[in-house]
Amino acid sequence: MDTMNGFKRSCYCGEPRLTDVGKEISVCGWVQRSRDLGSLIFTDLRDRTGIIQLAFDDTVSDEIFKKAGTLRAEFVVAAKGILRERSSKNFDIPTGEVELDVKELRILAKAETPPFEIVENSDVNDMLRLKYRYLDLRRPDMQRTIAMRHRVAKIARDYFDENGFYEIETPMLTKSTPEGARDYLVPSRVRPGTFYALPQSPQQYKQLLMLSGFDRYMQIVRCFRDEDLRADRQPEFTQIDLEMSFVDIDDVISVNEGFIKRVFKDVLNVDVETPFLRMPWREAMDRFGSDKPDLRFGIELKDINDIVKDCGFKVFSGPASSGGSVRLICVPGGAEKFPRKQIDQLVEFVKTYGAKGLAWTRLGENTTSSYAKFLTEEENAAILERAEAKPGDLVLIVADGKDSVVFASLGALRCEIAKRLGLTRKDDYKFLWVTEFPMFEFSEEENRYVAMHHPFTAPMDEDKDKLESDKASCRAKAYDIVLNGTELGGGSIRINTPEMQESMFRALGFTDEDANARFSHLINAFRYGAPPHGGMAYGLDRLVMLMTGADSIRDVIAFPKVQNASEPMTGCPDVVDEKQLEELSIALVKKEQ
Ligand code: AMO
Ligand code: AMP
Repeated sequence: MDTMNGFKRSCYCGEPRLTDVGKEISVCGWVQRSRDLGSLIFTDLRDRTGIIQLAFDDTVSDEIFKKAGTLRAEFVVAAKGILRERSSKNFDIPTGEVELDVKELRILAKAETPPFEIVENSDVNDMLRLKYRYLDLRRPDMQRTIAMRHRVAKIARDYFDENGFYEIETPMLTKSTPEGARDYLVPSRVRPGTFYALPQSPQQYKQLLMLSGFDRYMQIVRCFRDEDLRADRQPEFTQIDLEMSFVDIDDVISVNEGFIKRVFKDVLNVDVETPFLRMPWREAMDRFGSDKPDLRFGIELKDINDIVKDCGFKVFSGPASSGGSVRLICVPGGAEKFPRKQIDQLVEFVKTYGAKGLAWTRLGENTTSSYAKFLTEEENAAILERAEAKPGDLVLIVADGKDSVVFASLGALRCEIAKRLGLTRKDDYKFLWVTEFPMFEFSEEENRYVAMHHPFTAPMDEDKDKLESDKASCRAKAYDIVLNGTELGGGSIRINTPEMQESMFRALGFTDEDANARFSHLINAFRYGAPPHGGMAYGLDRLVMLMTGADSIRDVIAFPKVQNASEPMTGCPDVVDEKQLEELSIALVKKEQ
């Protein structure tokens, strides 16, 4: 095999242009394909910038011509020659007007036939792609995505540096603290029976850095959460994490709007309007059934409890009169677009969100309805009026004893309908801050209130006396940044006194002992002068996913995990040697099937 000895690359494959004709050029890369026409061989050579055509004709030595005849897809090659104008031009690629008249050819490595062709957007099975991820990553679309990810991270570092933030690293081996997702644990060898936790976020460390006086911190940091995977979730993911001292909500929001504006301009050349819309959580739920509403289309929820609470239809009156709710959405022009068969699919769709059914009216010359016969004329008219429904529209209603089920199902249904009707464009960027989140949500599983954001978030000034006395209506100084129905990031102004932090732990049902065992470092630190502080964190993967228009977070991570949190290429997680376990004082318990 040839080596690089004495060979110096002069440019990337995608760079040469007509203006370079006549120059001596040396390139390196992978063979995309090679066409042997007898007296002529054309080889497309690919690197991360694009493709250039290498031409071998009868003016080259027999030795080179013979060598060129052995080139196969994905061979690694270096070639030197004189750039010349092509006789048959290919205007589909930037280098399509030129070719390299090769005078020197080196084969640096051979390649077996890859399990799939290295081309853009090819329709290859996901598991196969991930098993051979190093080949999948050779595809031009993946190369572009990973390059864009680099750009976003670089701009984040530059922007926050220019705004006075220090990048400071925080530990990966940390203390497990309750609240939040499940931790990934790392056993300690030297203190048998004890464990580190991989950080779910650098939350406590970054707060302590504010206490240390660093004033502004940022970090592009890996976080770990042992939770179920979804299209926008990975067990290990990356945050752009930041924290600021002596600030309130507006200061954090304003710095971050500047960041978003900058990154969209520099990477996508998209001008984003600031300031972004702000919407209290309550309003987001009432109007969109979601705390991360997609604002690219309307189809808002309407509450009809007052209309149906005394009606004769138990499906509606039951929930409406006993703490549940009945709400609707109206799809303009939906009567025709959703024939009966499709409505049946929508019924099945809402059931996956816990709804027990979906009542509907298709308005038109022959209005049909699944529920109208159970209501009075006045009740039906009032519902249609509330829906602002016109002939041709489709009205869809969900009733449930739990408000949360109505919100979840109608919130998802409006997005599903928008998708089916093609109402959204990926390059239409609708940003939104959701504010005034509740401090707490009731966990049925644990039968207690848990922090909706995290236990370090401060209550709103108006609500600070409700922390222990009126949890249900206590609101937080928390904010999420939402883009097109995805939560891009979130943060809050933090508690900065030991008294309030202790009160918060009590509100969460911790005994003083528990709180001390887990969080004494933080509570103690607050006794030594903690500045008012706040911050937020973006999911870098999600940001890049939305900026590239990728469908899954996997497509923007070089080596992602799949559904069961495994990695198909290396096969991790994997069993380890007995000896390793012994050193860690760990014995495995066989689980009964
Ligand atoms: P939060 O838990 O909201 O806040 O996380 C911040 C952002 O991180 C992204 N994210 C994820 N991305 C991919 N996979 C996951 N499993 C995943 N989980 C979260 C989301 C999310 O908005 N310490 C606080 C921030 C703060 O208060 O400053 C925190 O971690 O985009
Ligand atoms: P039924 O009398 O059970 O056939 O119900 C009449 C209509 O009400 C049907 O269209 C059902 O899909 C619908 N329905 C049933 N349960 C609910 C519910 N919880 N919310 C909304 N519609 C429902």
